[in-house]
Amino acid sequence: CSVFSQKPIEKNTESSASSISMEKKKNGVRVILFPLPLQGCINPMLQLANILHSQGFSITVIHTRFNGPKASNHPLFTFLEIPDGLSESQINDEPTSNVMSLLAQINVNAESPFRECLQKLLLQESERVSCLIDDCGWLFTQSVAESLNLPRLVLSTFKATFLNAYPILPRIRTKGYLPVSDSEAEDSVLEFPPLLKRDLPRIFGEDGEKLDPFLDTIVDTTMRSSGLIFMSCQELEKDSLTLSNEIFKVPVFAIGPFHSYFSASSSSLFRQDETCIHWLDNQEDKSVIYVSLGSVVNITESEFLEIAWGLSNSKQPFLWVVRPGLVLGAEWIELLTEELVRSLEKKGKIVKWSPQQEVLAHRAVGGFLTHNGWNSTLESICEGVPMICLPGGWDQMLNARYVSDVWRVGIHLEGKIERKEIEKAVRMLMVESEGEKIRERMNVLKDEVGRSVKDGGSSFRSIEALTNHILSL
Ligand code: UDX
Repeated sequence: CSVFSQKPIEKNTESSASSISMEKKKNGVRVILFPLPLQGCINPMLQLANILHSQGFSITVIHTRFNGPKASNHPLFTFLEIPDGLSESQINDEPTSNVMSLLAQINVNAESPFRECLQKLLLQESERVSCLIDDCGWLFTQSVAESLNLPRLVLSTFKATFLNAYPILPRIRTKGYLPVSDSEAEDSVLEFPPLLKRDLPRIFGEDGEKLDPFLDTIVDTTMRSSGLIFMSCQELEKDSLTLSNEIFKVPVFAIGPFHSYFSASSSSLFRQDETCIHWLDNQEDKSVIYVSLGSVVNITESEFLEIAWGLSNSKQPFLWVVRPGLVLGAEWIELLTEELVRSLEKKGKIVKWSPQQEVLAHRAVGGFLTHNGWNSTLESICEGVPMICLPGGWDQMLNARYVSDVWRVGIHLEGKIERKEIEKAVRMLMVESEGEKIRERMNVLKDEVGRSVKDGGSSFRSIEALTNHILSL
């Protein structure tokens, strides 16, 4: 059986509730959800749908055609598709490197269809519709909701600390930190701790000024909303959550980590390769480094090869998710030379997409080389898996700093995608004493966060507060 799984198995599981029983009787109130069409945003929105459903709410999900969730995986919810104005080729050709530009287009194209759909739904719906909950990345929804007298709550799929910086990001960009010289790279960004100046270029990109109107709109519409929901908890960022309430002046509900209540599996847009679980079953405890860069990040051909050599040279078993389209200019893994394939085959397995939550929970996984998307970071913390941080941009830069510098539960690669650095980090995390210390700290953090989702914990109590808030709207 080859190391490279060519045919992942179609996964069609239903969402599974956690051991915490939150099931309540139907309360006769409907909530409308509208996810941003990215994997990292669809997962939390559908997990939120499950949480709210368990509190008695009926759920309608409005979604774009592009990256639409599989309705059949969620028989308890009503799904309504709206056009997004994208062409067939834009939808079908693996949209990865241009995903941000697609989102910008959808933010324009979807406004009228969304308004019409919502208007119709409010006229036809027999249950009381209390509110719309949508992603902070939608720019038009607050105005549409206001014009229809429907309260709107905002879901942030970012860490609260990152959203809190939206009002000051334009100021940081123009303050003169950029371009960052080598001598200043390690300096802190005083307005935005724990970021370092070296993190800034990957937050602002090449046309940072183009972000300003988006940030302004998001700050404005969030302040006009009826509340802000975070997939986070007091144990992870108490002060930032208090600050969110002060900045946006709306009630804040930190009810995460969501996946502790409901798995993200059923909202996967890609087919999950279950063969990797059987492969993990045959590995030693905590011996495998899991490698995945999420659903949006792209890497170059040479970065891909450096990671491959780094993993191979580390001599540690690895499970590597190479998403089709991850490597710019390549379909999948065809750039690997035969020599490299032979070397990789000895120790590892490559898949196109994994059941990540299940992988991280597997006893054989001892480390996670990650891009530090907020979902991945939370999933890793909840399973007590220490990380190697390779953030691609935006909020990932901040999440990675928290992991490596604040919580000290991971090793930061500092953007060095070089075989030697990767080999060194993998070995340090998986076999050296420094890795043991990181693992111990991770176990403490895991326990703290774990308490938040138990009966009486901060997240658990916030779900109750959110439920009451929605019922009062
Ligand atoms: C994006 C942004 O990059 C991220 O920073 C932001 O916080 C949310 O939106 P993405 O890059 O996809 O998300 O990363 P992440 O937030 O980690 O979400 C990825 C999701 O896909 C996770 O829930 C993860 O479990 C899932 N996944 C990933 C799989 O199920 N299988 C895989 O092989 C890889």
